Amino acid sequence: MRARITWFVTVFIIVLCCSSCYGRNCRCRTSRHSSKTGHAKRLAGPRPIHDYTKEQVLNVEDFGAKADGKSDNFQAFKKAWDKACDSLGSTKILVPKDKTYYVKHINFTGPCRSSISMEIQGTVRSFPTMYDIPRRLWIMFEDVRNMDVFGGGTIDGNGDVWWKNSCKIKKTQPCQSQSAPTALTFKNCTNLRVSNLKLVNAQQMQVNFQDCNDVEASKLSVVAPAESPNTDGIHITRTTNINVLDSEIRTGDDCVSIVNGSRNVEVRNIVCGPGHGISIGSLGEDNSEHYVSDISVKGVKMTGTSNGVRIKTWQGGRGIARNIEFDDIEMRNVSNPIIIDQFYCDKNKNCKEEKSAVQVENVIYRNIRGTSASKIAISFKCSQSVPCRNLMLQNVKLTAQEKGEKVEAFCSQLALQTLNQNSLPTCPMH
Ligand SMILES: *[C@@H]1O[C@H](CO)[C@@H](O)[C@H](O)[C@H]1NC(C)=O
Ligand SMILES: *[C@@H]1O[C@H](CO)[C@@H](O)[C@H](O)[C@H]1NC(C)=O
Ligand SMILES: *[C@@H]1O[C@H](CO)[C@@H](O)[C@H](O)[C@H]1NC(C)=O
Ligand SMILES: *[C@@H]1O[C@H](CO)[C@@H](O)[C@H](O)[C@H]1NC(C)=O
Repeated sequence: MRARITWFVTVFIIVLCCSSCYGRNCRCRTSRHSSKTGHAKRLAGPRPIHDYTKEQVLNVEDFGAKADGKSDNFQAFKKAWDKACDSLGSTKILVPKDKTYYVKHINFTGPCRSSISMEIQGTVRSFPTMYDIPRRLWIMFEDVRNMDVFGGGTIDGNGDVWWKNSCKIKKTQPCQSQSAPTALTFKNCTNLRVSNLKLVNAQQMQVNFQDCNDVEASKLSVVAPAESPNTDGIHITRTTNINVLDSEIRTGDDCVSIVNGSRNVEVRNIVCGPGHGISIGSLGEDNSEHYVSDISVKGVKMTGTSNGVRIKTWQGGRGIARNIEFDDIEMRNVSNPIIIDQFYCDKNKNCKEEKSAVQVENVIYRNIRGTSASKIAISFKCSQSVPCRNLMLQNVKLTAQEKGEKVEAFCSQLALQTLNQNSLPTCPMH
């Protein structure tokens, strides 16, 4: 009860704050900082890392890297890494510009003795063949603190051969052999910045932040063809205090996907499409217990995506997805602009309704405008056993992409307190 009251008070304060701020140059904090205690949390994101003036620079060419289009540069990169990682002072690894270095796979492992950075000016590319990659992680950074990865260069998964052989494309291929690797993984990293890089044509998922804390990912261009299978743009799992900013994502699966164990996630100023939109989930697969909370998605332009902002959970799961805010989202010809799907099922499973589900609660949709490619612009398909609680639509204006068509909201199993302010289409108010 107390949580519910707190939530309403918070919403009220936000509405008050935002309306009093309207047109003036003042900012208001958002719901993700409304914890139960009401204490403001500190902003997510890393602290400054480097004193560049004292930094040692290691060029991978000095460790034997060859941009000759055929050498595997694993050893050279690894030697540069080991030296940097073992240095007492802050060290930068440089991948020079206008060159392309092929690597079969790389695992950069910490902990390191000092802060470390990698300036990728050139291109790091995978070989265009299928081969076994340890743990299905093509480039991986693991157990590292205080790291910067940047440089304006390109990480190219060369994924074409993997896509063609994916079970989603080649129907004779069994689907359990999910052999394609993730292109770039950060695992168990703390105080990490990844910025100003192009990620193209990943074999499968493009970037994965897993078990990390204090992360800022910004100015990324993440691109793969619309038809490339399972190429999620930025995937966030069990990661806390992460900001994803000022990036462009055009890909074959979710632009951003946020799954179990992620908390304090801010996604700001993103261009998305083609792709499957921004997803929270899927959660609760195979009766698992999943938690995500305090997620703010703000300032997104979506074009031609199959979903806009989506929360997807499986029947039979447990856990909670709560305190989620979608604000300032522009939709152009999006097939399912606003969707909560508690009956998510993407395999040939028998996905029947079950007694439990992940609880979805405290979700605000604010300032969302644009066009829907389908008739159902808003779809809240919640569980009977665990109805969605405290959904709020504020200033949501969605119309049909086709002139003369109408759009509707589908609303099922909403618990009390669905608020609607100035929104069309909308759910019946309770
Ligand atoms: C890193 O990759 C090398 C080469 O594939 C492998 O021998 C080593 O075990 C890997 N280390 C870790 C920590 O994954
Ligand atoms: C995570 O990384 C730190 C070093 O930054 C290391 O000490 C710790 O053991 C790692 N945790 C796990 C679970 O591997
Ligand atoms: C979900 O994430 C939490 C927090 O990181 C973790 O402890 C738990 O094991 C995860 N649950 C599953 C089913 O993976
Ligand atoms: C809108 O999206 C639909 C479905 O994805 C597509 O068939 C149609 O060509 C798109 N229209 C425009 C104007 O982009």
